[in-house]
Amino acid sequence: MATPSDPNAEPALGGPDADPALASPAAQATGLRGPNAATERRVAYLLVVATVTALALAGVYVAGGQPQAEGALLLVSLGSIGAALVLWAKRLLPEGEVTDERGSLPSDEEELEAVEEAIGAGEVFFTQRRRLLGLLTAAGGALGLAALFPIRSLGPDPGRSLETTAWEPGDRLVDEEGRPIGVGTLAVGGVLTVFPEGKQQAGDSQVMLVRVEERLLRPRRGREDWSPQGYVAYSKICTHVGCPVGLYQATTHELLCPCHQSTFDVLDGARPRFGPATRSLPQLPLAVDADGFLRARDDFDEPVGPGYWKRG
Ligand code: FES
Repeated sequence: MATPSDPNAEPALGGPDADPALASPAAQATGLRGPNAATERRVAYLLVVATVTALALAGVYVAGGQPQAEGALLLVSLGSIGAALVLWAKRLLPEGEVTDERGSLPSDEEELEAVEEAIGAGEVFFTQRRRLLGLLTAAGGALGLAALFPIRSLGPDPGRSLETTAWEPGDRLVDEEGRPIGVGTLAVGGVLTVFPEGKQQAGDSQVMLVRVEERLLRPRRGREDWSPQGYVAYSKICTHVGCPVGLYQATTHELLCPCHQSTFDVLDGARPRFGPATRSLPQLPLAVDADGFLRARDDFDEPVGPGYWKRG
């Protein structure tokens, strides 16, 4: 039988569960020994559970996802890591202040043996804590990996699709029934929601068509011929957060967004006059064809909708 002074003996620290831990199958399975072996095994099991559930979470997500299962797995994984850290902090870390008297007393043989023994026990301590740190890293890594997968849910890169709409040069303007809009469709003061012909389902291409007295218009540089016979066309998607601009006040020549009351000056390129919107509604350049129908000269000259990607 090994004695405390036997240099080949396994270090055996005193403690409530030292001996059972050394002898138990669990100790042999986990390799965790010493006075805190039972607690360390619990921490190790919790971290293994956290790792396995985090990997299972990633697997469920990759397999198509199931919100309840994902929530339960995330709960178990985070809960296990939390419980392991609490156990570790409460039971395995030293508590209170430790002080020692200074002195330069010579060591006798017995003390040297005691130091040797303590160093041996320390090796077990650090080896076991390293193992736990490894498990903690594995659990954190698995959870981090699982957290990366939802990035796929952001969907494909929109590319330049947010900068263009369905309008193409020459598209006729039609109402929601698909009837083409002619120069006589609206009287001065009239307003109508119009779409590109054949593409009425394109949600980003809805346009507020307004007819005003042509002499009142104050077109911006380069837009002088965009409004034939007083027809002006602006994107119906509010540049604040994207509500439909659905109201027109003919007396003040203002388009109104009902969501947060932004108003846009129809005579001045739909410049915002009031409310939280800071960007003008994009204008669609118009022309009249030989048959008297309104057509788009081109797409909008800037992205429609909220302008967070291009302020101005
Ligand atoms: Fe139009 Fe806010 S969405 S004012």
